[in-house]
Amino acid sequence: MKDKSQVLAATLNGNRMKYNLSEITEVIKNRRSISPESYSDRKVHREIVENILSNGTWAPSHGMTEPWRFKVFMGEGMKKLEAFLPDLYKSSTDPATFSQKKFDKILLRTQEVSVIVAICMERDRTDRIPEIEEVEAVACAVQNMYLTATAYGVGGFWSSPKFVYSDAMKDFLGLEAQDKCLGLFYMGYPKEEWPKATESRLSM
Ligand SMILES: Cc1cc2nc3c(=O)[nH]c(=O)nc-3n(C[C@H](O)[C@H](O)[C@H](O)COP(=O)(O)O)c2cc1C
Repeated sequence: MKDKSQVLAATLNGNRMKYNLSEITEVIKNRRSISPESYSDRKVHREIVENILSNGTWAPSHGMTEPWRFKVFMGEGMKKLEAFLPDLYKSSTDPATFSQKKFDKILLRTQEVSVIVAICMERDRTDRIPEIEEVEAVACAVQNMYLTATAYGVGGFWSSPKFVYSDAMKDFLGLEAQDKCLGLFYMGYPKEEWPKATESRLSM
């Protein structure tokens, strides 16, 4: 028969953490959406972008379809997005609701943010997995990216204006009919202090 201390030791052993949960929890709780307007001029280096995207690819996917595709715009490549995105907003918006302010904001983001990633889902061509599960897998990849960016002190922002779902956006990104663009992921260093957790979460 084991005495109390042996039982306690066995329980503690059984519950021994494999990773540092308090640090992981801290990264999860400190992840925030940080909008491009809050970024400083400091560029996010290519190596950091690659590590963020690489961690994205370790997300789960049903049937290992790994449907995430990241189209990265930075440096010279950003010029293409700058020439395309504001015009896409204009051409896909009813003139009655077109906002010059919004147009300018989209343009400015492509001019001032050092890296923008188009978040895409490439459908498994055999159709063996429901589409929603492939979208879910990409969302898991984006959370990995968000958390990795947070660990670097890099702010991320998933933006999904209506026009990202358009056929014109698909063509621009080289996607096929069954694939989807799910949004744009902006990255940058916040110019001010890292934002605190929202109240609703603190009260949980
Ligand atoms: C799929 C998805 C799409 C989003 N699209 C937008 C968007 O178009 N515009 C926006 O302001 N925020 C967008 N967000 C960010 C949310 O507004 C944000 O996550 C929410 O306000 C909570 O803030 P937090 O991320 O800092 O916790 C999106 C988030 C997700 C998950």
